[in-house]
Amino acid sequence: MKELIFRTRINIYHTSELPSEYKELEAIVRELPRLAYAPYSHFNVGAAVLLENGNIVTGTNQENIAYPSGLCAERVALFSVGSLHPNIPAKAIAIAAETGGKRVEMITPCGACRQVMLETQNRSGVPLVVLLCGPELVYVAEDARALLPLSFDGWNLPD
Ligand code: THU
Repeated sequence: MKELIFRTRINIYHTSELPSEYKELEAIVRELPRLAYAPYSHFNVGAAVLLENGNIVTGTNQENIAYPSGLCAERVALFSVGSLHPNIPAKAIAIAAETGGKRVEMITPCGACRQVMLETQNRSGVPLVVLLCGPELVYVAEDARALLPLSFDGWNLPD
């Protein structure tokens, strides 16, 4: 028997000690959950993507009465980046959530969003830093791959 062990490094910052390049991103994302359209789950999520040229593109979760038609905040934001700025690499994505009027301590993105984060990173060749923003602490993964070991990468798809 052999085993594979995956290690994930998450750096935890107090919002006050966040590296300066992420301060504006964090300030923006904390305001986004209240703009979400989440009348069914009452779980409001915001995502803000920092591009290499300094632009920030935002998204919030968008739900629908036909539940599977909705989309997470992260994919709303990342697909906006892909359609509005297809040739500008995304450097970082910050995520924040709120429910019952309270900020979520640590929002953990779903598998589908992690897969899209990873493809965003692979497409540009630039590491996508992921910031999971709580009210006081921010959990930072330096690379989207860290959040999705054994991801589907399509290498065995037929030509
Ligand atoms: N959701 C997000 O937008 N991002 C996440 O990281 C987790 C979940 C949304 C999907 C749905 O609208 C609601 O939160 C509850 O799952």
